[in-house]
Amino acid sequence: MSTATTSKLPVATGIALTALDEGFRENPYPTLADLREREPVHYDSELKRYVLTRHHDVHAVLFDLEQWSDPRRANPDTFTSLFLGRDGEEPSMLMMDDPDHKRLRGLVRRSFTPRAAEGWREKVRGVSERLLAEAPDEPFDLVAAVADPLPTMVIAEMLGLAPGRHQELKTWSSVSAESGFNPMPTPEQETAANAAQKALDAFFCEEIERRRGNLGDDLISDMLRAEEAGERLSEREILQQCNLLLIAGNVTTTDLIGNSVKALIDFPDEASKLRRRPELLANAIEETLRFDSPVVNSGRVASSDTEIGGVPIAKGESLSVSLAAANRDPRVHAEPDRFDVERQGIQHLSFGGGRHFCLGAHLARIEAQEAVRAILDRFGKLTLAEAGYRYGATPSFRGFEVLWVAPEHG
Ligand code: HEM
Repeated sequence: MSTATTSKLPVATGIALTALDEGFRENPYPTLADLREREPVHYDSELKRYVLTRHHDVHAVLFDLEQWSDPRRANPDTFTSLFLGRDGEEPSMLMMDDPDHKRLRGLVRRSFTPRAAEGWREKVRGVSERLLAEAPDEPFDLVAAVADPLPTMVIAEMLGLAPGRHQELKTWSSVSAESGFNPMPTPEQETAANAAQKALDAFFCEEIERRRGNLGDDLISDMLRAEEAGERLSEREILQQCNLLLIAGNVTTTDLIGNSVKALIDFPDEASKLRRRPELLANAIEETLRFDSPVVNSGRVASSDTEIGGVPIAKGESLSVSLAAANRDPRVHAEPDRFDVERQGIQHLSFGGGRHFCLGAHLARIEAQEAVRAILDRFGKLTLAEAGYRYGATPSFRGFEVLWVAPEHG
């Protein structure tokens, strides 16, 4: 599947390269392999962006500290400019350049180091085991039972949010992500996202107020402390940080857990190997990140006239880097379409790179490891249940809305 096709048809472009297209949503990899071999630097004239699919090029762009992320610097009518705050709002740090990006990331960086994330493992394990203990013995939707609740419960604790509102938070953040990370939301999605955003803002405003004069040991309190210590940080920025942490860490980690389980169902020999050798767990999660990345593409804005792979690209144009295609580039990963929990030298780009490298990468790894560990411990074997699965249709993300599994006890 990863070999070049000899087709004389034009390569896929535009919507056909997004989860809005049914075929791409179901299995994007043959399309991406074809693009990578025939037009690795492809100008998508429908969505006005350059789509990069080779590992070498994607890596180079992500780690090039000169490239911009702020959509306000993109040429009008390009793909990136579609992300411009619909009501004129400042973008979050994900789409900011220095010095603001550095300042905002610096405020929360310490809470997400590998060591800090490791400090959450016991708690994550406890939550995972509790969720699995509540899972039924008959076919169930793994997304609703485990993959959906776990990340919200964890980040809510880190932010020090009142317990008992996880379901609301999950719903608001999912609805907001459907539009916020989607350059082409429908009017209905925009209306729903605006309402969800209002609800989230009101919720976080209350949480901020509750802490003023009574700071605790949580991330919101840390940000308020920084504000009191004279950092330039507006209440609006604290709100945005809370929103980003909730939204960026939610859908993505849910998707990683679902994609891990699906890969283990599709490759039962690998699942058996993992059961026999649990020390492979961390590598198995890295392999899932490579094999089926929850974030399909990230982006930058060309900061000067440049050339990539012999293709000239003008300043201000959108560079859409396909993490999913890069991860399956056979130049870097042999037999890229094989899921191999023992694979050595994994160089996936699923957490991006450079200044914007995913802040929550270590936390996400721990959550996925503990969720999969709990699933393997609870069930002898999992197969796909008759009710099947459905992929989400938000461009840039890849993961399940529902994934019905049938357990057998071990
Ligand atoms: C499997 C789960 C996750 C995946 C695949 C993922 C992926 C990504 C990617 C691709 C980026 C953009 C990187 C770039 O363009 O260079 C990113 C940025 C970010 N992620 Fe994650 N993420 C995950 C989980 C999380 C979690 C759990 C959190 C926090 C709780 C989080 C917080 C962030 C933040 C704050 C940024 C922006 C960083 C910046 O701009 O400096 N992510 N993530």
